[in-house]
Amino acid sequence: MQLIRTWYAVELSSAVSEGSVQKLNFHGEVFAIWRSLDGTVSVVPDRCPHKGASLSAGNVGDEGLACPYHGWCFQSDGACVKIPAQGDNNPIPRRATLGGLPCLEQYGYIWIWWDPKGQSAPDDLPALPDVGPIPESDDSGWRSLEGTVVWQAHWLRVLEAFMDLTHAPFVHSGSFGAMAPDQLMPVDQWCRDDSVYERVIAPRDRHYRADQGRGLRAWFNQADDKDVDQESDDAGEQHIQLWLANVSLVRVVFGDFQISLMTAHVPMDDGTTRNLWRHFRSFLRSPLADGNARGRVDRFMAEDQRTVETLTPAMPDLDGHGNLLVASDVSTLALRRMLRQKRNDGLLI
Ligand code: FES
Ligand SMILES: [Fe+2]
Repeated sequence: MQLIRTWYAVELSSAVSEGSVQKLNFHGEVFAIWRSLDGTVSVVPDRCPHKGASLSAGNVGDEGLACPYHGWCFQSDGACVKIPAQGDNNPIPRRATLGGLPCLEQYGYIWIWWDPKGQSAPDDLPALPDVGPIPESDDSGWRSLEGTVVWQAHWLRVLEAFMDLTHAPFVHSGSFGAMAPDQLMPVDQWCRDDSVYERVIAPRDRHYRADQGRGLRAWFNQADDKDVDQESDDAGEQHIQLWLANVSLVRVVFGDFQISLMTAHVPMDDGTTRNLWRHFRSFLRSPLADGNARGRVDRFMAEDQRTVETLTPAMPDLDGHGNLLVASDVSTLALRRMLRQKRNDGLLI
């Protein structure tokens, strides 16, 4: 199952440095993703038009992406500019071109326009989803971290899991989930423009119990930042949003402090999802706290993974026969409704 004629975030920008190439597994197909020496990113089929070698095993140099087999060189627009065995005496065939996918970079990700049937006008593509708020990369008020983790689960099941706070007291009881299960109904919820949003207010005394020695309150209790008001009665607010095709953002706002996790859920195939996460925190910004922060994200992800990999049916049943959803699943219901509409429009195949 895949959404088509839409943008997907498929890799962290930071993972593809200038002059490098790597493999991208996406919806059961294989691509090479590479960045030229001048910084341009391209995503092309991982198959050389000459004899079919894997371009992701090639090299990037002054003349572009060089195939590892006979050294044909391709530029960022896909054009072959060099066939070494022929010198300059023979013309380069017009068909010696890589058909790349439309590609953009924003929000710290590389995005591709996915239209396997080739029905879109390349010069008239929609804008990227308006993902955020996230801090600018040069905002000194925030500290950020990135990471990746692969789950053996369908990407829509993974997307649903990031939109589902009611599992937190059960799945995440070992990390941030010290919440009362009956306090997690959204106070705001909407679904529009290929996006689902919910806001949940979890009372601080239940949500961040300092005596448990964990959670965000525990972070604050460790902080030597004089601005932290440990006696504040502000409630913890969770803002959870997803944007089709594959990005989620969870923001926890706690008084003047925030912690966010933005994740691109990349469908490698129908049973495998690669999660590319970006963490932002507005407190404990010292790099010395990075190890602790990374450990927390890893643990939180592992808690989800253990459960999400067991779900049946493996793909969400959009018509509701395979699962019994109730009122507290309001965002899952909204997402599935949106996906049914996509299916009716021929955009979910
Ligand atoms: S297979 Fe790529 S150059 Fe020959
Ligand atoms: Fe979770």
